[in-house]
Amino acid sequence: MEITYHGHSVVRIKEGDFNAIIDPFLSGNGLCEIGVEEIHELSHIFVTHGHGDHIGDTVALAKKTGALVIANHEIAHYLMKKGVEKVHAMHIGGRKTFDFGVVKMTPALHGSGISEENGIIEGGNPGGFLIDVNGYKVYHAGDTGLTYDMKLLEDEGIDIAFVPIGGNFTMDVEDAIKSVDFIKPKSVVPMHYNTFPVVNADPDDFKRKVVDSEVIVMDFNETIEINK
Ligand code: NI
Ligand code: MN
Repeated sequence: MEITYHGHSVVRIKEGDFNAIIDPFLSGNGLCEIGVEEIHELSHIFVTHGHGDHIGDTVALAKKTGALVIANHEIAHYLMKKGVEKVHAMHIGGRKTFDFGVVKMTPALHGSGISEENGIIEGGNPGGFLIDVNGYKVYHAGDTGLTYDMKLLEDEGIDIAFVPIGGNFTMDVEDAIKSVDFIKPKSVVPMHYNTFPVVNADPDDFKRKVVDSEVIVMDFNETIEINK
């Protein structure tokens, strides 16, 4: 499985025909070196919640690539209104088998309102995704505070987890360390930091303090290969 991290919460996963992006915040993300123009093919787009730094370029990417967008019901509805044709609505706690594997939407302690010119549109509950593809289990936490619900993920046998560490809107390093202790993934990648001054954090501090999981501090725009 090939994983690319474009900074913030932007994660790309390639495994066979599964060519997905999670929370495609490309425009306005100073850490991301690619834009919509550089992405030509996608099979799936996952959106964890309605905030602009997560919905990001979903509409443009979905229209360009024809990818299926997987999001909560409210965001799926919003995207359809914006002209996205292929959406699949799920909700927190729901599990669904797709042709590529199994997806479960996990809870997140956060907001999900969608900012528009005239105010904020209801974006349902924020979430994260547990994606099981070809025997690899990937967990993307979305934006979340530390929650004891994460303890339930321990039983999932997660291969690689993406957790926010930037603080202010989400867990900081200290809480993210506790989350890793709950989740017990084989590997963990810190995300949602250093995009803006308000979410500045030191991923190496996180790496030093996590005990039982391997911490992979990915460079921005770096691609890694993980193997079973
Ligand atoms: Ni958010
Ligand atoms: Mn965010």
